Amino acid sequence: MSMWRVKREVICLILLGLFFSLPLDAAENGNSIEAGKKIFTYGVNDRIPACQKCHGSDGMGLGAVDIATPRTAAQTYTYLLKQLTDFATGRRTDDVMHQMNRIAKGLSAQQRRDVAAFLHSLKWPYEGSDLARLGRDGVNVGNPGRGRIIVNFGVRARSIAACKVCHGYDGHGAGRLYPVLSGQNYLYLTHELKSFRRAALRKKEYGRANDFMAQMRDVAAKLSDQDILDAAAFLTGAKPPPMPENPKGTGVE
Ligand code: HEC
Ligand code: HEC
Repeated sequence: MSMWRVKREVICLILLGLFFSLPLDAAENGNSIEAGKKIFTYGVNDRIPACQKCHGSDGMGLGAVDIATPRTAAQTYTYLLKQLTDFATGRRTDDVMHQMNRIAKGLSAQQRRDVAAFLHSLKWPYEGSDLARLGRDGVNVGNPGRGRIIVNFGVRARSIAACKVCHGYDGHGAGRLYPVLSGQNYLYLTHELKSFRRAALRKKEYGRANDFMAQMRDVAAKLSDQDILDAAAFLTGAKPPPMPENPKGTGVE
């Protein structure tokens, strides 16, 4: 066998290995939804706290005025896994409770896959944040009607792309990398949008910059405070994605 043949075969094997090691879907070889559920419900020993303490027993997140955590239930598997990996490697920083980085780093790669698979499999009731209540609690609540236009059509005069282009109609999510935004917590949405904008405008304070090719930062850079409030007000109350994007369905139209 010539050296070149051997090399070629080795290269083929490496490429094949790479292909199979890509995070394809939640039912990826060896993933265990059961193991993920255990991590979510009980944590790991006394090192990793139960995720449900902060993300709610149903993965719906906390919508409290002072602390907002994201809904992770029924989110795209690949997106969830990417976030856990980004927290573990420090590409993204939890600047709300300052816990996610340590937590994600403490999980093995397989544990991160298991818990992402579990979260992806959860039903998402899509209640959305209670904007009237948040308003009564003194939160500045945007205008959902204007937000709907930003999400589905953009703002042409200021070259703001419609969120729909990447996140799907009404923020239903698209493909594996573009997260579902509909039904996400209002306060979490506004927090992340401001964070991407800070990174885009190179502010001194921490800003989120883990988006592929600065796709999200480029959009956030152009958003005004009012645009952010309006888009988030619409998205939190937007209807759920239809099957099959929402893997377990909702039973609610
Ligand atoms: C002490 C509270 C706390 C605990 C415990 C916790 N989280 Fe989080 N998590 C947060 C906060 C706060 C954020 C949002 C941080 C930010 O805004 O960047 C977050 C963000 C996330 C995200 C990103 C979601 C998105 O839409 O981008 C994922 C995924 C996640 N957590 C999964 C987990 C898992 C899995 C566990 C358990 C192993 C866990 N979390 C435990 C507070 C917590
Ligand atoms: C060119 C593509 C693109 C467009 C247009 C876009 N986004 Fe994004 N967005 C992304 C990507 C990619 C991510 C995920 C980044 C990552 O991997 O962490 C993201 C993430 C987000 C997140 C964080 C979600 C979470 O769970 O943490 C929010 C909120 C968001 N986008 C809102 C918007 C809004 C509102 C608009 C419209 C004004 C918009 N996006 C337009 C590409 C886009």
